[in-house]
Amino acid sequence: MHYIAYLLVSLQLYAGVYCQSFPADLKKCKYGDGPCLTATANDLLKKYPKGIPELNIKPFDVLPVRDWLLVNDSQVGGAWYFFELLNQINYGFENTTITEIRGFDRDPTATKIEIHGKIPRLIYKGDYLAKGRMLWFVDINSHGTSESDFLNFQFDITLKVRLEYRNNKRYLKIYELVPNIRLDRWIMWLDNFFPDNFDLTIAINNLFNRNWVEFWNELEPGILRLFETVFRSMIDDLFDNVAYDDLFLAESQIESA
Ligand SMILES: *[C@@H]1O[C@H](CO)[C@@H](O)[C@H](O)[C@H]1NC(C)=O
Ligand SMILES: *[C@@H]1O[C@H](CO)[C@@H](O)[C@H](O)[C@H]1NC(C)=O
Repeated sequence: MHYIAYLLVSLQLYAGVYCQSFPADLKKCKYGDGPCLTATANDLLKKYPKGIPELNIKPFDVLPVRDWLLVNDSQVGGAWYFFELLNQINYGFENTTITEIRGFDRDPTATKIEIHGKIPRLIYKGDYLAKGRMLWFVDINSHGTSESDFLNFQFDITLKVRLEYRNNKRYLKIYELVPNIRLDRWIMWLDNFFPDNFDLTIAINNLFNRNWVEFWNELEPGILRLFETVFRSMIDDLFDNVAYDDLFLAESQIESA
């Protein structure tokens, strides 16, 4: 029985080593070398828009997003609103340009980690569910498809991390991710908002699109929490699968380089 256990452990170690290999066509960097890390991150996005299954990095071009309750007013009084996004898919992350990376020192907890980037067009597509009551209007109870386009989407992400040890290796664990977002324009289309009145559906969509800044300002806290989960779904797996030190050049590699 011991022999079988030995075999299983060896197999697991082998699989572990095999899984953790960093793609050879991506340049490794020295700890804390921001410009190099920026270049490698952009190289990764360009060469692997479909992700890297061996490292559990999911596709960047088609990213499913968890269902999200964006507005949930208490349903009392003359005006309240409920808005939920369902079955949403995010398109466009493959076109991200990383503009700056800071931190990622040998001791990653020593300095603040920041990732800055921009995306020409980020699309959110899926279903929505809306309920509500407006003072001057009928009750709303609609569902349909929705599409949001975020144009010139710029983000700054700040990470708080700690290190975990597994098999004598250091793994980065993110315990806080704070996104900051700016954009030039938000275009939204909610299909079927007034099921019986297409003209009104157009009117409400136009109203939204003319006043998108006000909507953005009001919804921003919820949207930032949503993007926190989106960004985490992209980077958590990488740090969970590849030991922190395997992402960087070893001392011996620096000397020979
Ligand atoms: C919305 O908020 C109410 C409390 O105000 C809560 O009872 C309800 O479960 C929430 N809805 C969802 C879908 O979470
Ligand atoms: C990403 O860029 C490619 C090439 O420019 C373009 O064809 C594609 O439509 C872009 N994706 C999105 C979601 O805009």
